[in-house]
Amino acid sequence: MRLIFELLGEDIKLAKAEVFSLFQDYKILFDLGTILGLKVSKDLCSKEDLRLLAMTHCVSEILGESDSIKEDIIESVKKISIEKRPLFVRCRKVKESKLRSGEVERAVGEIFYQKGFKIDLREPEIEIRIIICGERAFIARKICDCDKKILRKNPLEMPFFYPGVLNPKLARVLVNLCGLKKGERLLDPMCGSGGILIEGASRGLEVFGVDARERMVEGALKNLRSSAFKGYNLMVGDSRNLCFKDRSMDGIVVDMPYGQSSPIIGKSARELYYRSMEEIFRIFKKRCVVVAREDLSEIAEIIGFRSIERYEQRVHRSLTRKILVLS
Ligand SMILES: C[S@@+](CC[C@H](N)C(=O)[O-])C[C@H]1O[C@@H](n2cnc3c(N)ncnc32)[C@H](O)[C@@H]1O
Repeated sequence: MRLIFELLGEDIKLAKAEVFSLFQDYKILFDLGTILGLKVSKDLCSKEDLRLLAMTHCVSEILGESDSIKEDIIESVKKISIEKRPLFVRCRKVKESKLRSGEVERAVGEIFYQKGFKIDLREPEIEIRIIICGERAFIARKICDCDKKILRKNPLEMPFFYPGVLNPKLARVLVNLCGLKKGERLLDPMCGSGGILIEGASRGLEVFGVDARERMVEGALKNLRSSAFKGYNLMVGDSRNLCFKDRSMDGIVVDMPYGQSSPIIGKSARELYYRSMEEIFRIFKKRCVVVAREDLSEIAEIIGFRSIERYEQRVHRSLTRKILVLS
């Protein structure tokens, strides 16, 4: 199955990493900035997983491709064979092109009409996307729009608000980067108000949250209860000395404290990071995602993580988050 991902432009490296984390096996067909083409096995991804991508606009299945010349696009469209359901055609120009979107939409719509399709602009069952990216044009059938509703959720509207809360979009990216499947176990050993746990629970993971401060655990509990998701476990504890058995969690996602509104409970920041990473290493089975203000890859190497991927997210002038994906 060949898929085309229309990525959000704000952080392309992270957006691609999020997409790759969905698949165990994939081949990159093309990588054109915000447009990414992958060949994947059909059984290895669900529509639900695709819908939960936080840094992608939409995902479509590629039906054909051509040079970005109207006549060539039309020839490719003529070869397409899909079930006859009401459809509409949308053309998107990602890079500058002489082609006019409206003209392409009309010409392609006309071909489908001649093939006996009903063109329905109000309630189409199929959306055909013509994506013009410089010299190339891709003809694709939309599989899903990625869900933006949950990402617009305002943490201030949650029953328990905490100033150090991660924004819901980043929380979703981090959980996606962990690459877990429904029913697997996710731990956040410094869970704060529970944003990561809510994202995990929303994709059917069994989530475990720990925080050293009782107030935070109570707050996270309120937030999780209000979310209507099931399968969460919370406890007061110290991330440097956790009560979980070795390799008992499929994945671990953590947003390390940095002082100020997010206090460090340990002898020093370094001691907390080092000892918490040792515990994470002991408990995880598949993958960990660690966010901090500092680059903790040196600690991760000393502790023994085999694979270390690094990403950055600039929040504002004085805050860039360092994201490590570890296994
Ligand atoms: C950056 S905040 C996490 C925010 C959280 N991701 C959210 O969205 O609300 C870090 C959390 O680590 C907790 N913490 C600090 N030291 C800890 C320790 N030794 N063990 C467990 N939790 C600790 C703090 O209480 C704080 O809630």
